[in-house]
Amino acid sequence: MANKANPPGNSVNDASVLRLGINIDHVATVRNARGGPHPDPVRAALLAEKAGADGITAHLREDRRHITDRDIERLRRDISVPLNFEMAATSEMLDIALREKPHAACIVPEKREERTTEGGLDAASAHNRLAPLTRQLREADIRVSLFIEADETQLDAAVLLGAPVVELHTGTYCDAFLAGDMETFERERVRLEAMANAGLERGLEVHAGHGLTYDTVQPVAAILGFRELNIGHFLMGEALFVGLEQSIAKMRRLMEQARQSALQKATS
Ligand code: PXP
Repeated sequence: MANKANPPGNSVNDASVLRLGINIDHVATVRNARGGPHPDPVRAALLAEKAGADGITAHLREDRRHITDRDIERLRRDISVPLNFEMAATSEMLDIALREKPHAACIVPEKREERTTEGGLDAASAHNRLAPLTRQLREADIRVSLFIEADETQLDAAVLLGAPVVELHTGTYCDAFLAGDMETFERERVRLEAMANAGLERGLEVHAGHGLTYDTVQPVAAILGFRELNIGHFLMGEALFVGLEQSIAKMRRLMEQARQSALQKATS
């Protein structure tokens, strides 16, 4: 069944748009620790939707450590907001994407031994491998997004590949905050802002994500070039204490506050 919600239109030029995509992978991580059906990531996705998520993100890893093929089928069937399917650039994942037809496919680098997606995709070096894959996704009407470092070479590579969307990796920015290295934190923020603008200038829709928390989300949400933030792990942890709906509602509030004041500043 098709996603019931209208997929987001072309919002490249509309700085008032800042969507929140909720990544539910780690509900599946907890479920898989015991191998049974609980907690159910699809139930989490439905709750996230109720709490105001604009989209659901799920990463079907090659080793199926959290999300499973069945989860993707159920998400596709049950949620009303767009599904952003995170995938490695492999023929197995391409076949699944073409079968499930999510709204968007975000191509991420994947290493089996990593704990999480540690860096951006090197879209520039992998052009020849990625080109047929992105072409087939595009031909199937799946919105292609590339998860890249905030770097001009990677933005150019995305344009060459015909990807309409890029997601900038915020991992270094968030790690700097956790390490208390505020100089790097600010330098990374400036780099994210510059590359969000550089992406817009190239006609790309620019998203951001990885490691964002209540402490780090506002400077990113204030970057007017971003149209979507994808957030998972922190919110799932926070949900243990306050519930999923509350944790998402608070994130949304912080994002909106930051975006509204940035818009006001830009027009005053
Ligand atoms: N965006 C992408 C492309 C990701 O791969 C991930 C997590 O793997 C996220 C966003 C969300 O990151 P986090 O779970 O750290 O919030």
